[in-house]
Amino acid sequence: MRKCKIGIVGFGTVGSGIYKILNSDFDSHPILKEIEIAKVAVKDLNKKRNIELDNNLLTDDPFELISDSSIDVIVEVMGGIDLARDIILKSLKSGKSVVTANKAVIARYGDEIYETASREGVYVLSEAAVCGGIPIIEPLKRSLKSNRIKKMIGIINGTTNFILSKMTKEKADYKETLKLAQSLGYAEFDPTADVQGHDAADKISILSELAFGGKIKRNEINTVGISKINLKDIEYANKLGFEIKLLALSERQKVTSNDSIPLNIWVGPSLIPKSHPLATVDGVNNALLIEADPLGEIMLYGPGAGSGPTAASAVSDILNLHASSVKNNNSIDPLLSFDFWRKCHIVEASQITKKNYLRIICLDTPGVIGKIGDIFGNNNVSIESIVQLDASADEAEIVVITHEVDTGNFEKSKDEINSLKEVKFIASQLSCI
Ligand SMILES: NC(=O)c1ccc[n+]([C@@H]2O[C@H](COP(=O)([O-])OP(=O)(O)OC[C@H]3O[C@@H](n4cnc5c(N)ncnc54)[C@H](OP(=O)(O)O)[C@@H]3O)[C@@H](O)[C@H]2O)c1
Repeated sequence: MRKCKIGIVGFGTVGSGIYKILNSDFDSHPILKEIEIAKVAVKDLNKKRNIELDNNLLTDDPFELISDSSIDVIVEVMGGIDLARDIILKSLKSGKSVVTANKAVIARYGDEIYETASREGVYVLSEAAVCGGIPIIEPLKRSLKSNRIKKMIGIINGTTNFILSKMTKEKADYKETLKLAQSLGYAEFDPTADVQGHDAADKISILSELAFGGKIKRNEINTVGISKINLKDIEYANKLGFEIKLLALSERQKVTSNDSIPLNIWVGPSLIPKSHPLATVDGVNNALLIEADPLGEIMLYGPGAGSGPTAASAVSDILNLHASSVKNNNSIDPLLSFDFWRKCHIVEASQITKKNYLRIICLDTPGVIGKIGDIFGNNNVSIESIVQLDASADEAEIVVITHEVDTGNFEKSKDEINSLKEVKFIASQLSCI
C-alpha cells in the first residue's frame, strides 16, 4: 500500500499526542505504519519540547505544508479561528483532505468548509473536535444514518463538568475550583469559552448539523455558562434529588412547514434527576445521549479531552482518509464527507417548553408561597414542587420546580413574582430535565 504523508499544523497537546501514536510500537493495526509525518508546523521553532523533532521536519510556516505536493493530508491541531480557517480552506483548495480538532472553526465556518471540500473532491474530518476521544462524529455520519435522530442531550464540556462535580462532592467554591482546574491543565489560562458555555455551544452546533442535516446559526444558540452557579443551588438540587450539570440539548420540534426543520437547541446549567444516566458522568468525562428512531436511546461516554484520547480520534480520521483514498480515487464517499441536505432553524427560546428551577429570596412573611403559586397558576404554569428551604431572621429562600411549561408563560410569571413586595430578588434560574 502507498504511504499516506501528513503535515501536522500544531505540535501542542493534540499534535504531540498524534506523533506519539504514530511512533509507538504497541500492537497496532498494520495500516498505522503507512502513515508518515512529512512536516510539522509550529509557532516557535526555538521552543523546548518534550518530544525532540528533527529540524528538517519543523517549520514555522503552515502554508509550506500546503504547497508541499508530497503531502496528502493536512492535520490542523493549532486552534484559533481566522488563521485556522485560512489553512483549512487553502488545504482543501489545493486538493488535500483535512483532519481537524478545531470545533470553533467548524461551528462557525462549517458551511464554507464542507462546501469547499465537496467541490474539490476531498474530505474534512473532525472527530477530535467534539468530545475528544469519544467517537461521536463518525456514528452520526455513518453508523446511525439509518435512524431518524430525535434528540441529543449531553455533557460535552469536561472543564465545567470537573468544576461542578467538585463543587457538588466537596462543597468547593467556584473560583477556587476553577483555579484548581487551571493548575491541573483542565481549564485554559482564559477559561471564558468553557465556563460561559461557548465551547459546548460550538460542539452542539456541529453535532446538530450532522444529525439534522441543516446549517445551524451558531449565534442563535441560547447559551448560559456556570459562572453564576451557587453552592446553595447545588445543595438544594441535591436535597430535591437532582444533580446540576452543564447540559447541551438539541431536539427536533414539530414541523410546521415543509421548508425547514425547527430545532430546540440550548446550552445551560440544568438540574437532572439523580437517576438519569447523565447524572453519574463526573469529572472531565463527557457523555452524549442520543434518542433515535427506530434505535431507541444510546449513550456514548468517555474522556472528552486530553492528549491521548483526542489524538486517537484524529488518527482514526487519518486512517479513514487513507483507507478511502486507497479504495476509491475517483469519487468521494458520501457518508465520510458531509453536505447539508435540508434546512433547519432554531426555534426562539420563548416558543419552547421546558422544566424550570427558580430560587427566590423573599421576606419571611406568611402567605408568600401562596402568592407565588397563584401567579404561576394564573399564567398556566404548572408546578412540580414549591418549598421553603432556608429561613434566617427575616429572609426566606423559596425553591420552585415547574413541570414542562411554555417558556413565555414562565418568564411572565417570573417578572410578576419579582415585582411582589415580599420578594427581594430572584437568586437563580436553571433548566431542568
Ligand atoms: N487539548 C485538548 O484536550 C483538546 C481536545 C479537543 C480538541 N482540541 C482542539 O485541538 C486544537 C489544538 O489544541 P491543543 O490543546 O493541542 O493546543 P496547544 O497545546 O496550545 O498547541 C497549539 C499548537 O499550535 C501551534 N501554533 C500556534 N500558532 C501557530 C501558528 N501561527 N503557526 C504554526 N503553529 C502554531 C503551537 O506552536 P508552539 O508549540 O510553537 O507554541 C502549538 O504547537 C484546538 O483547536 C483545540 O480546541 C483540544
